[in-house]
Amino acid sequence: MQTAIRISHVTKVYRAPFRRRATVALRDLNLEIAPGEVYGLLGPNGSGKSTTLKIILSLISPTRGSVTIFGRDNSVVAARREIGFLPENAYFHKFLTGAETLRFHAKLSGLPRSETRARVDELLATVGLTDARDARLSTYSKGMLQRIGLAQALIHNPKLLVLDEPTAGVDPAGSRDIQDLIASLRNRGTTVLLSSHLLTQVQEVCDRVGILHRGRLLREGPLQSLLSIENQTELVLENASPDLLDGLEQQIASTSARLIARRKAQASLEQLFLHVTESTEE
Ligand SMILES: Nc1ncnc2c1ncn2[C@@H]1O[C@H](COP(=O)(O)OP(=O)(O)OP(=O)(O)O)[C@@H](O)[C@H]1O
Ligand SMILES: [Mg+2]
Repeated sequence: MQTAIRISHVTKVYRAPFRRRATVALRDLNLEIAPGEVYGLLGPNGSGKSTTLKIILSLISPTRGSVTIFGRDNSVVAARREIGFLPENAYFHKFLTGAETLRFHAKLSGLPRSETRARVDELLATVGLTDARDARLSTYSKGMLQRIGLAQALIHNPKLLVLDEPTAGVDPAGSRDIQDLIASLRNRGTTVLLSSHLLTQVQEVCDRVGILHRGRLLREGPLQSLLSIENQTELVLENASPDLLDGLEQQIASTSARLIARRKAQASLEQLFLHVTESTEE
């Protein structure tokens, strides 16, 4: 089967002049991402996420190893044309409006002028910025900037989207918008690789996550299976009477199973925040 991204035995050593010690940012990294998959690269600061993404884009070269994009070596220009990229801390020209920003990138990516207008309108609608199209980016919120960045990455209709910390600095409602966008791209068959240092920002949208730590991929799999504790089960009941719960506890006590906790089910902090802020909106 053809893979969207294949990273084979990639090691990256940064050698800074005047510094005695080199930094090994990636150690023998192997990673395969299937076409149409949404993959989350998770890891703490400095674990090598941005380095991995920059190597995929061929912005920096690996010390050892190789990368293919849809079966072609990523040093081939045609392979890189398939990729849309939103860098970490993307730089925007603040004096341009949203529509101007996209027209500028359409020109850079060589989109024919006859197609530009429709494409810009379509992308502004996709990322929910139609109403803000003629406002300067200096007036955009962080969430709006990330969305215009996403639109810019999508301008040439790439098969693969690489997003470095797409929800960094964006509040939960804004993060949800970005996650919804990523989900709709997946529905259209786009392959997405994104990085984050926050588990909560990727858990809803990724088919699979990899956990990077000090340049090594420690764990990999569907998030649910990574988070689940194999030999434990939670029951969440609604309207259970105290009698029912006491009866269940007694029944459990007569078996080899052990009751570890009896507690009220809790929403995650993020769910609570979303719930509270959504219910105050008109
Ligand atoms: N140009 C560079 N020169 C020297 N060292 C670098 C360079 N870029 C990154 N590093 C080092 O490589 C390691 C991995 O950095 P990288 O930026 O890939 O991590 P990251 O996971 O993206 O972190 P963050 O969450 O902070 O964005 C770090 O130790 C970093 O200091
Ligand atoms: Mg980074």
